[in-house]
Amino acid sequence: MKALLEALQPGEKDWDLAQAIDPARLPAHIAIIMDGNGRWAGRRFLPRVAGHKAGIGPVRTAVETCARMGVKALTLYAFSVENWKRPRAEVETLWRLLRYYLKQELPDLQKNDIRLQAIGRLDALPEQVRRELDAAVDATSSNRGLVVNLAINYSGRAEIVDAVNSILEMARLDGSIQTLKIDEDLIATCLYTASCPDPDLLIRTSGEMRISNFLLWQIAYAELYVTGTLWPDFTRTDLLQAVLEYQKRDRRYGGLSGAGVDVEAKPAEESLIASLRPS
Ligand code: FPP
Repeated sequence: MKALLEALQPGEKDWDLAQAIDPARLPAHIAIIMDGNGRWAGRRFLPRVAGHKAGIGPVRTAVETCARMGVKALTLYAFSVENWKRPRAEVETLWRLLRYYLKQELPDLQKNDIRLQAIGRLDALPEQVRRELDAAVDATSSNRGLVVNLAINYSGRAEIVDAVNSILEMARLDGSIQTLKIDEDLIATCLYTASCPDPDLLIRTSGEMRISNFLLWQIAYAELYVTGTLWPDFTRTDLLQAVLEYQKRDRRYGGLSGAGVDVEAKPAEESLIASLRPS
């Protein structure tokens, strides 16, 4: 949080929000479903692609703010496997915007020690996009600050299928296929996001109450935050508000809140349990 507070002046917009955030309880990993670009454009009688173009600024803001807060990882849903169903011109624009973003932002990513990773079925990307993406990922691979995962041609189900197939392949290669036992840890280590902790906070813009095939495995215990703001309008204020809301949540992971919860049954509970005898 120190770097964020240093970038703000007392009394400036977002100063109070940033002050209110507890640096000891930051989400380690934030994931964002950036939705509403098309509607943002439609409301302005602009083509949908204008909404995607306007979505670049909030990407930059989210990356910069997460880096300054000290968040460890940020995962952005940039293109789903289902997005190929969109008109060719829209898909083409998304690739151009991605290339533009990489070119524009690489110097800042380097300067701020940010590591870029791409997750998804990347083999299906147009060759030039793939090449430029790989180059940006390679160039930032030794950075040690915020990790930014761009989910591109991504599907949560496909990711789990790919993980299971890579486990089978490894077992075939090392001859352990007969005795192979798959458990949660093994699957988690074979996901695209294996190097990151699971997201603590999942933000979705534009008010839709859907997960849309995003990080299905990893968000098992993520706190969900849905805002009606359309992605091109998403600001640092929105992000700080989401983090503050996250810090109000009581994360129980299926247990009870509070340290030292007594797990032994008390006499009143014992007699209730005893009365519930299955016939
Ligand atoms: C969803 O809005 C958004 C996308 C499918 C693309 C997201 C792309 C960007 C934010 C710009 C480029 C990103 C990077 C990382 C360079 P939608 O089109 O489904 O909106 P709608 O639901 O209002 O139609």
